[in-house]
Amino acid sequence: MALSGPQIRRLDDRLAERCRGLTPHQYLAFLKSPTGAADLEGLISAVVVNKTDLFRDEVQLNDFREHVLAPLVARAGGRPLRLWSAGCSTGEEVATLLMLLAESGASPGSTVLGTDISEAALRRACSLSFTPEQLRRVPAGTRERYFMPKGSRMALVSALRERASFQVHNLMDTPYPRPAEEGGFDIVFCRNVLIYFTVESFHRTVAALADSLVPGGTLVLSSSEPLLQVPPALTVMRTTSAFFHVRVGGLRSQERSAPSGREDTSPTPEPRSPEAPAQAWASAAAFTEADLLFACVLDGASSGASDAVAERDLRRCLSLDPDHAAARYLLGLLLEQCRRPLDAVVEYRRALVSLEEGRSRPVPFFLNPSRLKVACAHAAGRLESLSGAR
Ligand SMILES: C[S@@+](CC[C@H](N)C(=O)[O-])C[C@H]1O[C@@H](n2cnc3c(N)ncnc32)[C@H](O)[C@@H]1O
Repeated sequence: MALSGPQIRRLDDRLAERCRGLTPHQYLAFLKSPTGAADLEGLISAVVVNKTDLFRDEVQLNDFREHVLAPLVARAGGRPLRLWSAGCSTGEEVATLLMLLAESGASPGSTVLGTDISEAALRRACSLSFTPEQLRRVPAGTRERYFMPKGSRMALVSALRERASFQVHNLMDTPYPRPAEEGGFDIVFCRNVLIYFTVESFHRTVAALADSLVPGGTLVLSSSEPLLQVPPALTVMRTTSAFFHVRVGGLRSQERSAPSGREDTSPTPEPRSPEAPAQAWASAAAFTEADLLFACVLDGASSGASDAVAERDLRRCLSLDPDHAAARYLLGLLLEQCRRPLDAVVEYRRALVSLEEGRSRPVPFFLNPSRLKVACAHAAGRLESLSGAR
């Protein structure tokens, strides 16, 4: 994990409490021993971030429902589907997937596996019950159909609960879970987990997750986790407002392409201040070209373009639109991956300024400006705290 400053401090505090006079090496040996298992679990729970929500990222979920789940259910012809929520935290994502499956008309035998490194999170996940406040994002009809009061909480109905199973799993450990039957998962969700990983762990995990899918199966990452190096096993499927990664070998290309193609969704650039018509036209043309270059970089990631080509295109895009915060964020990720953290921080910070000053235009298929702001601030803070810690 790439720990942020607060996470490092929290870990230091926990370690100081727990070492109880042992040297770090002695404490490490203790953690690795059978009697140290409980301490290790406590440490893990102190470091991980468990933030989650029911129906988290509705924009992405709407595209998932329309462009991934509905066609899959149609193709499956009654076959039960196998879903995996990797890094499921306290179960909200598992519950969401169970509801989406039920609403999609998938076979009632379909299942969702939830795994997480944190046993404490999984203990809560297993109940699949939530406070009424947590249900606020669940559409009213869905809430009425699938939840029952249980004490002060609302529990998912048993018909859905029994399709879920939970298991402790560290994404750093192989082998990865498999469905009970032969083959892999139809869909793997791994959202808001890899964002905390180092670049190496990120790539290793994505390749292993791709391997867990059946051919044609879909990997769903969060929209703040674009892949700059898409492993050969995956292709990118872009929809109106999201992107998904499809394991090669299962679908013909026309089945993969979303009904609303990229051409239909390219933004109409708006001049940001009153300008003379010729000037406005020139800015509009520059923005269109900048967005095309940005789209090329995203496409290049799936077709294996080199880091040098991606950097060149992102810099060209930014010379046309210096406030293209999405391109700047991507450039930051690329520089970080190329072990240029100081350069990366500069890009994250510049993207933040463009966003904070309202100069950045929203870009399709990517994070909306407020989420991009959070992603840039998080990335810059993480790198700055790492360099401060050294
Ligand atoms: C921020 S939560 C995301 C929960 C859910 N996927 C979502 O998007 O709402 C991240 C989860 O990843 C888990 N996690 C972190 N590192 C992990 C690892 N190496 N293996 C498995 N789970 C991990 C954490 O315990 C935490 O519950």
